[in-house]
Amino acid sequence: MWARSRFFQKLGGGILERTAIGALSAFQLAALSSHKNPETMKLIKRVRRERRTLTTAFESYHIHSLAQACRNLKGDFAEVGVYEGASAALICNVKADKTLHLFDTFDGLPESTDPDRSIHKKNQYAVKFDAVRQYLSQYGGVEFYRGMFPETAAAVEEKNFAFVHFDVDLYESTRSCLEFFYQRMTPGGIMLSHDYSILTGVQQAFHEFLRDKPEGLIELNTTQCMVVRAAA
Ligand SMILES: C[S@@+](CC[C@H](N)C(=O)[O-])C[C@H]1O[C@@H](n2cnc3c(N)ncnc32)[C@H](O)[C@@H]1O
Repeated sequence: MWARSRFFQKLGGGILERTAIGALSAFQLAALSSHKNPETMKLIKRVRRERRTLTTAFESYHIHSLAQACRNLKGDFAEVGVYEGASAALICNVKADKTLHLFDTFDGLPESTDPDRSIHKKNQYAVKFDAVRQYLSQYGGVEFYRGMFPETAAAVEEKNFAFVHFDVDLYESTRSCLEFFYQRMTPGGIMLSHDYSILTGVQQAFHEFLRDKPEGLIELNTTQCMVVRAAA
């Protein structure tokens, strides 16, 4: 386990972090637009204009692309850590007729004993739940679960999943996501997480959880990591 101190982590969330992400994303969008599908780029730009998000443009692209790659697998889609619904909207655009299960307190981050607690505050990322629900109402097949995950997960205990996105910032929350979803993933299905390379707690949760599993962690060239579920 290695602790990392990175630029965005030092900014500690909030307006500074979002400004830095916006500036970086402007360059990333220009780079992507030179060779990626114009419709995909239009979508990513539109969603980023409409919602505040903590993901960079490259990260938005990965979410969209990896969700799309899983849409012909058996199982539903899920996201834990919705905030204003930016990443959820990208997933909605490629989920076809799959159900997307969305988990968040919508009251922001819970209190935590996390290794990164100095950069997170209780209730950080609190949003107006009805506004998020309204924004995503343009898509069908979206289910909301408001409250602390995994206490809110009882309704999907019998489901299998083809693609899940974790963006929960904290060790305890990431660990809960891994414990809950890993055993319910379809072979070939993808668990994608934000912040792996900049948040010590997220990284620790993945390292501990995967220690006795056959799957290797794939670190992307953003803050994200992913795991492709092997056949049982
Ligand atoms: C950085 S935000 C998510 C950003 C979002 N994915 C985007 O596209 O911008 C992190 C979210 O995780 C949620 N969260 C963290 N731990 C949670 C838990 N155990 N249960 C429910 N929500 C949680 C917080 O409420 C917060 O909205």
